[in-house]
Amino acid sequence: MTDLNQKKERDQWGSKLGFIFAAAGSAVGLGNLWKFPYLAGQNGGGVFVVIYLGLVLLIGFTLMMAELVLGRNTQLSPVGAFRKIKQKWAWVGGIGVLASFLIVTYYSVIGGWIIKYIVSALTGAFNTTDLGTLESVFVNFIGAPVEPLIYHGIFMLITLGIVMGGISGGIEKASKILMPGLFIMMVVLMVRSITLPGAMAGVEYLLKPDFSKLNMGVVVSALGQVFFSLSLGMGVMVTYGSYLPKDENLVESSLIIPALDTIIALLAGLTILPAVFALGFDPSGGPGLLFITLPGVFAKMPFGSFFAVLFFVLVLFAAVTSSISLLEAAVSLTVDQFKWERKKATIGLGILAFLIGVPSSLANGPVLGNMTFIAGTNFFDSMGIITDNLLLPLAALTLSIFVGWVWGTDKAVAEATNGGKVKFALAKTWSIAIKYVAPIAIGYILISGLIPLFK
Ligand code: PFF
Repeated sequence: MTDLNQKKERDQWGSKLGFIFAAAGSAVGLGNLWKFPYLAGQNGGGVFVVIYLGLVLLIGFTLMMAELVLGRNTQLSPVGAFRKIKQKWAWVGGIGVLASFLIVTYYSVIGGWIIKYIVSALTGAFNTTDLGTLESVFVNFIGAPVEPLIYHGIFMLITLGIVMGGISGGIEKASKILMPGLFIMMVVLMVRSITLPGAMAGVEYLLKPDFSKLNMGVVVSALGQVFFSLSLGMGVMVTYGSYLPKDENLVESSLIIPALDTIIALLAGLTILPAVFALGFDPSGGPGLLFITLPGVFAKMPFGSFFAVLFFVLVLFAAVTSSISLLEAAVSLTVDQFKWERKKATIGLGILAFLIGVPSSLANGPVLGNMTFIAGTNFFDSMGIITDNLLLPLAALTLSIFVGWVWGTDKAVAEATNGGKVKFALAKTWSIAIKYVAPIAIGYILISGLIPLFK
């Protein structure tokens, strides 16, 4: 491998802002708009939010920095990045990329549902507030054999089309339009939601912690959500970091990206839960909150179909900027390691991801619904278990051990501060966090996520 040649050919982010938008775009996704509000709804509201915020600061920021630093230092996608520092550790990068590739297979299925919901909202198909009806609309749609597959294909094509354009010309360009668009729509929707009569109960539910609801289950789901929401442990941030120029301020970026992601998660919570409360629905609706409860909420609102379209377009924007990062991790690896042309790699991997997503889509209906894989769950849920309970924590655990102990915090801090040029007051705290706090916390998550599977 000739590194010099590689660097010359390697694309880079065109601007600092472009990189921040793209990285925040990766982080902000279904995790923020779909998972965060329903997890908060299920886990006691404010108490979940407080724990989540604490963990973002303690672990999220720490790992974000570790990934960006590793990528920028080596200028390589994960497997190459680990290999360059310690040959034997290359497989660790592989786990993360495998995780992100498997996630994109089912993330695209859900992305397809979002496109369908935009179409339905446009045609006024949700004109009912009856949750039973809305549930059967949803269940019938995702259970159908063909229609969800078409939408899954459309979503994958959008993802693939952007990734094919490369870093500055594809991902950065798209993120620069999609992210500000998302933010504006989000603010409009939040204002609409919290000005509904009775909305304050939802605001209070989200922001006022009731510590009697605190238990280990809340902490475990909050930490799992921190990884997923910040796109950590999957090699994505290593990859995005590898396209950064050497003078970029990584200390700043490692703070800005988690901050933006957290602001959007809170905005999403403040959009969805107050409306759910104001219009008399149940906040603990779980995964169905977005696809079943929310259409009911919109149906009750003045100009509801307009806001419904706006909302689902926003979710689509967020999902696309995340799915491109998931696919990019695998594409970048194939380009770096196997010297494939980007176009060829993107099309090949996009088609493969689509095909692996097919059983995930079919698992929600009669075709594959009765087939169980892991811990008695269907294919779709099993994929989620493999990525969320196993690969993700494993990759994050090995990454923190690698950066903290194998590569060494001195070298990592030197890279983070551009050789001492950038101020990093918390360098000592960060070193302790990556060496001790992160591995212990992630190890705990890994074990507590795996134990129930063997019961
Ligand atoms: N962070 C994204 C979200 O919150 O939806 C999902 C995601 C993207 C996870 C990229 C992992 C990843 F590598």
